[in-house]
Amino acid sequence: MATERTLSIIKPDATRRNLTGKINAKFEDAGLRIIAQKRIQLTKAQAGEFYKVHAERPFFDELTTFMASEPVVVQVLEGESAIAKNREVMGATNPAEAEAGTIRAEFAESVGENSVHGSDAPETAKEEISFFFSGLELVG
Ligand code: CMP
Repeated sequence: MATERTLSIIKPDATRRNLTGKINAKFEDAGLRIIAQKRIQLTKAQAGEFYKVHAERPFFDELTTFMASEPVVVQVLEGESAIAKNREVMGATNPAEAEAGTIRAEFAESVGENSVHGSDAPETAKEEISFFFSGLELVG
């Protein structure tokens, strides 16, 4: 097992309901360290650039409108197998399918407004971290 870094986003449905601290507690309880974090307001164009792999999906417009609707908290999580561990802590994309105790089971409102995003693989984690953070901002 190796120490990894992954990109996490606390989405507008969660920042609106003041859930940043409760979600961060889930990461920390699972042994993930929040080594970088900032609250930002995305434009729809920036959300579209971040989610460009989904550009052809029918939900792309809904997704990018939602991600630009209110502030998000972007963060880098570090730990043993952080990419997989974060995905476990988040739970399934659709909250109806997420295991009890996961962030999405407890907090997500729908498949679209599902409280958190996490990178799905080492290559995407690297790309997604550099989309939001410079090397100088990452102090492990
Ligand atoms: P995320 O992990 O951020 O990656 C892509 C996002 O697209 C996903 O979480 C959901 O928020 C969103 N998404 C996936 N499927 C749908 C859907 N059927 N309708 C609306 N949004 C979706």
